[in-house]
Amino acid sequence: MSGDTREKLSSTTISLHWIVALLMIGLLATGIYMEQTSAYGLYPWHKSFGVIIAVFVVVRILWRIKQGWPQHVGNYTAIETFLASLVHWLLIIGTLVMPISGFLMSAMGGHGVAVFGWELFHHNPDPENPGKVLPINAGIAGTAHSLHWIAGYCIIGALVLHVVGAIKHHVVDKDGTLRRMLGKRV
Ligand code: HEM
Ligand code: HEM
Repeated sequence: MSGDTREKLSSTTISLHWIVALLMIGLLATGIYMEQTSAYGLYPWHKSFGVIIAVFVVVRILWRIKQGWPQHVGNYTAIETFLASLVHWLLIIGTLVMPISGFLMSAMGGHGVAVFGWELFHHNPDPENPGKVLPINAGIAGTAHSLHWIAGYCIIGALVLHVVGAIKHHVVDKDGTLRRMLGKRV
């Protein structure tokens, strides 16, 4: 497995970035949609992809620990360097907080967690109300829900800055920052 250089990013960095990015954007969008419209049919999909992304996130974080952050391509000002680092940290920590909080909210809320029907954490039926569930730990479930909600919106804010930054580097500075993340040598 070859590593990242200033001129070219490894295929591991590039594939992990785009797999996690697509899944994150999809999960943020479906999460907000289903929460606002009570689209219960989407919940099992959201949970399944939410657990699957965690596997890629852990591999990616281990890869970043091994490789460090990629060196910048263009001439970054001090404020740009600070903002880019801050946003990368927020995004990478956010990718870990979301699956963990989602899992805890569902599991401790008594709803259970399954990946495409394969049960990872059983649901907790209420014996007195058929079809309803009982929380296992309502306190943890409630805190995890708040975290899932707050972190979700913080990530959306960071993501807007991240994408605006990527476009600015491509269109205004015309450096190779975006092209390098698309696999090109710069
Ligand atoms: C359309 C959406 C996206 C675009 C255009 C984009 C673009 C880029 C570019 C050009 C870089 C390289 C920056 C550099 O060399 O300094 C980068 C790095 C990075 N991006 Fe994105 N990105 C997108 C979505 C995301 C999402 C959804 C996440 C996570 C939630 C994310 C997390 C990161 C992180 C942590 C890095 C640092 C390098 C790495 O760990 O791979 N990006 N992105
Ligand atoms: C990177 C992974 C994930 C992202 C980006 C994500 C994103 C979101 C967002 C933005 C919302 C709407 C705001 C809210 O009500 O909290 C949401 C709702 C929800 N998420 Fe996630 N989620 C992820 C993983 C998970 C996982 C792993 C589970 C459970 C195993 C899960 C379960 C839920 C549930 C049950 C809701 C609806 C809450 C309600 O109706 O009030 N999520 N998600």
